[in-house]
Formats: sequence, C-alpha cells, structure tokens
Amino acid sequence: MASIKNIGIMTSGGDSPGMNAAIRAIVRTAFSHNMVPFGIMRGYQGMIEGNIKELQTTDVSNIIQRGGTILKTARSKDFMTEEGMKKAYENIKSHHIDALVLIGGDGTMRGAVAFFEKYNIPAIGLPGTIDNDLNGTDFTIGFDTAVNTAVGAIDKIRDTAEAHNRLFIVEVMGRDAGYIALHSGIACGAESILIPEQKESIDMLIENIKNDQRRKKLTNIIVVAEGDEFGGAQELSNKLKDELPWIDYRVTILGHIQRGGSPSCADRILSSRLGYAAVEALVANRSQEMVGIINDKIEFTPFHNCIKSHKPMSQDLLTMINVLAK
Ligand code: F6P
Repeated sequence: MASIKNIGIMTSGGDSPGMNAAIRAIVRTAFSHNMVPFGIMRGYQGMIEGNIKELQTTDVSNIIQRGGTILKTARSKDFMTEEGMKKAYENIKSHHIDALVLIGGDGTMRGAVAFFEKYNIPAIGLPGTIDNDLNGTDFTIGFDTAVNTAVGAIDKIRDTAEAHNRLFIVEVMGRDAGYIALHSGIACGAESILIPEQKESIDMLIENIKNDQRRKKLTNIIVVAEGDEFGGAQELSNKLKDELPWIDYRVTILGHIQRGGSPSCADRILSSRLGYAAVEALVANRSQEMVGIINDKIEFTPFHNCIKSHKPMSQDLLTMINVLAK
C-alpha cells in the first residue's frame, strides 16, 4: 500500500457520546504520522455532496468532553444507490484522500461493505453506536454513557414510583438489540427486563406482577427495550391495562436523551484507544476492518463479520436477571 498522505474521517448514523473523543484521537494520531486529516461532514451524505474540509489541530481542542459530533452525522439514503456511491468515490478522489476512518454503527458498517466491494480505498471502522450491537468489540462508543443516562433517569423514576406505589414501564433505546435495557435494568434493580434476545410470555409477566402485589411489593419498574417483541412501552401498557385494570401505572419513553450528554470516562478512554489504533492500523497496511476491544485487547474484525448478527448476549447475565429481579 502506498504511504497515506491524506486521511478522511467521518461519523455516520446515530451519533453517540464519545464520537468527538474518537475524532480527536484520529486527528492527533494522523498528525503524528505527518498525515493531513480531512473531516467528511454528515457521514456518507457529505461524501456524496463533497462536504469535506481539512482539519487543523485546533479543530479537535476542547472536544473530548463533548457529546454529539463536530463532523455532524446523517443517515444517507442516497448512499444506498450505485450513483450515490460513485459520486462519493469521485469526491474522495478529487480531495486526494487516500484512506478513510469511519465511525458509526450497523448501518455505517453495512454501507462500508457495499462501498468497498466496488471501490478499493484503505479503510478502518470504529464502532460508534449507543446500541452496543456490533460483533468484534465488547463495547461500542457511547454505550456506557447511554446506559448511565438511562440509569440516572430510572433511579429518579423509582423515587416517584415508590412514593405513589406505582408500576412504571420505561422504554429505552437499542434498535433491535436489548443491551441498554439489560444493563440499565440490572443497574436499577428493575423488577422485569424485557429484551428482544429473550422471549417472555405476557402471562408470566402478569403473574409476576400479581405475585408482587400479593406480597405487598407495590412499586414495580419494567424496563423494556424499544425492539422488544411486545412492541415497546406503549403497546405493553395497553396489554397490561386489559389484564390488570386496577393497577396504577405510567409509561416513560426515555428517547433521545440517551444519545446526548458528555461521554463517560469509560467512553472517552475507549474512543481514544480505538481512534489511535485505527490510524496505526492504516499505517500498518490493515484495511476493510473494524477495530474493537475484546477482553481489553485491540482486535480487528472484517466489516462484513461485524454486522452478520448481534454479538451474543452474556448467558450469565440473562440467567442472573431472573434471580435478582424477584
Ligand atoms: O442506533 C442508535 C439509535 O439511537 C437507536 O437506539 C434508535 O432506534 C435509533 O438510533 C433512533 O434513530 P433516529 O435518531 O434516526 O430516530
């Protein structure tokens, strides 16, 4: 591989806290190799529109602690077309960009698979999504912060639930994965955690609630993943209303607050390590892989293997929640 002079960096899909810390690490590491970093604005959409600008070292000062992404982001429909990908490639070439670092989630990695089947540019991906649903890394950038945000919110909900003897159904994000629900539910001592990865029967849920009522446990928090088979908090509440009409309950959908805010310490360190490793990997001639951390070691996984299926959920955790949530 010829030596890399200009490196393009983009964030794509849903933003996640820690993306800025990753951009900072990539830019600083690129400078250490005398590369010129270019910011591609708004992900694949900016690639298509040629929305690309050279980054200075000052552009990444004072951003490690900031949520969102200074490069903006988008979900690009145009990039799914042959024409869109061709335009994106032409813009990369016209800016003399000879390697890419892509930060994003499942959609970003899927885009990378399609793009690099046709066009050959050295590229490394970073797992940036609150959903934690990519193979090839224990944790994705933003997951820890999102879970902490959810935990803070559910703890507050617990206070008011306790005061009124109410049942709360709290919906958390995660697309079709249940990691945010599982982790926040465990950390908040939720009475039930409903996730797509584990089938629950409505009858069993109702029986559990009735049992709690019988033994005078009148506060009940159900954390449900938005992608759960019951269809999220509102749908679940409609089902419960039919079966348990006497129960006083409320629904809270946490929504996009889980995507914002200052990244946690864990996310800042994860992003810094992955950003640094991505540029070092390009220098070492690696390409078409996502960099992750597994058991505290930097690991590389080909793009197509990151998205094949969700990484398996810890069976230990799944077994444990059924015991602890009683
Ligand atoms: O992938 C991150 C995520 O926040 C998911 O948890 C959620 O389902 C989705 O993005 C929401 O996307 P948008 O911000 O486009 O509505």
